[in-house]
Amino acid sequence: MQTKLFVANWKMHKTVKEALNFLNDFIPAVEKIKDREIGIAPTFICLESVGKAIKNTNIKLCAQNAFYEKKGAYTGEISPVMLKDLNVEYVIIGHSERRKYFNETDEIVNRKIKSCIEEYLKVIFCIGETLEERQSNKTFDVLKRQIEKGVEDIINPDYIVIAYEPVWAIGTGIVATESQIEEAHGFIKERLKNLYGERAQAIRILYGGSVTPENIYSIMNTENVDGVLVGGASLDPVKFSKIVKYEEQIN
Ligand code: 13P
Repeated sequence: MQTKLFVANWKMHKTVKEALNFLNDFIPAVEKIKDREIGIAPTFICLESVGKAIKNTNIKLCAQNAFYEKKGAYTGEISPVMLKDLNVEYVIIGHSERRKYFNETDEIVNRKIKSCIEEYLKVIFCIGETLEERQSNKTFDVLKRQIEKGVEDIINPDYIVIAYEPVWAIGTGIVATESQIEEAHGFIKERLKNLYGERAQAIRILYGGSVTPENIYSIMNTENVDGVLVGGASLDPVKFSKIVKYEEQIN
């Protein structure tokens, strides 16, 4: 069985001080947990101090993005080499907010994934359809395209985790139903099997979109869900620790 993965995507939230305050409450709440992975993706400017605060804990440092070049004249960008230097373990790539607000295409996402893997960074590769795409029955075409283009020329999938985040469920309070998640994750698993054969078994598939302590138990008990990528609810140490300890949240 796969080790479950719970990642907080803080997006553009929290100053350094706020991040450290969060950890003061969160670290003791989860410190005994050994059977699952926990990650926090703060903003770039919080990486160093969060990294120091979680050193020697069971929490892994994650980044929200990376550029595809290692260094150079790219004002405002951060490279995978720099993230590795700060002991980042996972990098979120291809989040729908990056695709929407920063025009990241499948090709750019693919270059970023390759560049992270070259530095031995694990990638949380986000895919997901918009509401319009779902309503016009294009969900599976979109997922297929995003997967195939995103991992193009990547022979070794060992550093890849997929996050299925339907765009219409992100920050809306509308969580995908168990059957929608099961269907999408099953489809993703099949595509990965087509690409990587038996090696695809090792690729974890996370769900993301309006995950809360109230719905985590049923999400985690859905077929082919190997963890979650959490936005809003991960900003609160109590809520995120409840999500990580999902078995205790039976309503
Ligand atoms: P919410 O949990 O706020 O819906 O955000 C999900 C997300 O985008 C995680 O990457």
